[in-house]
Amino acid sequence: MLKSNSPDPTVLVIFGAGGDLTWRKLIPAIYHLVRDQWLDDRFAVIGIDRKPLSDDEYRASLRDKIMQASRTRLDQQQWDDFARHVTYMNADFSNPETYRLLSERFAGFEKTWNMPAQRVFYLAIAPRFIGTVAGLIESAKLAKDRARSRLVVEKPFGRDLASAKELNATLAKGFHESQLYRIDHYLGKETTQNILAFRFANSLFEPVWNRRYADHVQITVAEQVGVEHRGGYYENSGALRDMIQNHILQLMCLVAMEPIVSFTADEIRNKMVDVLRAVRPISPDAVDRVAVRGQYGAGWICGQRVPAYRSEEGVNPQSVTETFAAVRFFIDNWRWQDVPFYVRTGKRLPGKASEVQIQFRPVPHQAFPSSAVRDLHPNALIIRIQPDEGIVLRFQAKTPGQKLRLKPVDMNFSYFAAFQGEHPEAYETLLLDVMQGDATLFMRADQVEEAWGIVMPIIDSWESSPPEDFPNYASGTWGPEAATSLMARDGRHWHEPAGVDNQCPVELPDEKSGAKPTS
Ligand code: BG6
Repeated sequence: MLKSNSPDPTVLVIFGAGGDLTWRKLIPAIYHLVRDQWLDDRFAVIGIDRKPLSDDEYRASLRDKIMQASRTRLDQQQWDDFARHVTYMNADFSNPETYRLLSERFAGFEKTWNMPAQRVFYLAIAPRFIGTVAGLIESAKLAKDRARSRLVVEKPFGRDLASAKELNATLAKGFHESQLYRIDHYLGKETTQNILAFRFANSLFEPVWNRRYADHVQITVAEQVGVEHRGGYYENSGALRDMIQNHILQLMCLVAMEPIVSFTADEIRNKMVDVLRAVRPISPDAVDRVAVRGQYGAGWICGQRVPAYRSEEGVNPQSVTETFAAVRFFIDNWRWQDVPFYVRTGKRLPGKASEVQIQFRPVPHQAFPSSAVRDLHPNALIIRIQPDEGIVLRFQAKTPGQKLRLKPVDMNFSYFAAFQGEHPEAYETLLLDVMQGDATLFMRADQVEEAWGIVMPIIDSWESSPPEDFPNYASGTWGPEAATSLMARDGRHWHEPAGVDNQCPVELPDEKSGAKPTS
């Protein structure tokens, strides 16, 4: 987060170099870091995977794929600059010999650079291999220089509290907590980081950021895509584990945390974990009242018929995995006592949108005649994480004319309009942070465990009573009816994120024929 200089010379080892995460996120991120001159000649990537490939073949395979995944158009000169940093090792993660060879490669780079290099081990591999790889790195003594060696662990970090604790304990055998970087890519998003700036670099909002003025907070993370080709993974996960336990609870922490004393990793993470510790435990018999699950059926997205979750590749045709979850939390502390935090997430919703809305209380006394306030809405502050990143302040204004009529209007800050140009993607920020040894945006062991502790009663209850009504929402809708009731019972409703209506690809006229798109 605090970037001023390029990192020290670094060798980044990617375990799982042939996997999706590597080509979709890591390689495009590194390409841009090289392009933007954050990384110089003393930087190297070693990709490790089982497929037999030469360095050149591996680079060529990345080049083909990066064309689809990169946020900018690929430039041949820049690609060549980047590609020379990349080498490949066809090796088995579970064989100690791999680590001996790695050690030789490190020695080679250090000799050429004439100084010790940082070693970043990125585990882009299935969770079941994490313990083995971490153990072998440790026994080969590749990470014994604590200040210069780091291990990056992707989510899912466990699949419940017990497995997360076990994984933390396994990693703690060979690594100090300061060497562990548990990724939650939502924390790397520009607007997510901006929540801290918005809250703690402005004095205007803090006085109203509490139970006295806030009626409730709602967080929506909606996706238009279905489970795509990840059915196998998702069947063991579901929306609660995949999105709420990590991304959404972290967003909630940033919104709810107390002001920080200093901008340091541990201070920020301490304040974030305080929020998790204050979340009111959900008793097993309350789960049905405060949590809703759903699974998408077939439906229509952008005029196309899309299949039900149960018909997706890799999914059990009788699956009871939830693709939608909504929960009401309370945070029991002085600031937030009795202010509900409603969160929801789902796949195959009408559009992609992540938003936090702070809904303020209505005015204490209505002085205007009822004819003037038919459209009255309490003030709201909306933090748009994606797409169209920005912040909206909603307040009342008089409509022009002789009649007295009030209407809500929006004061709109758009990231794009204010700061034109390109913005780094989350993985660029996070990878650079790891190389600079800044753990602010990464999950500490206690954060992960607290977050699992919060959702465990829901997981246990859902697992012990499988749903009988799945699928219970059609693709292209805002989730099951019960999610609406969750808020309606409290006299509230979900805010529909702006801009989801126009996310369908526009058919461009066929240039050759000059044909117009059909409507
Ligand atoms: C991942 C989840 O962590 O986040 C996916 O595993 C989800 O299921 C993705 O699609 C959403 O991320 P983003 O950045 O596209 O909102």
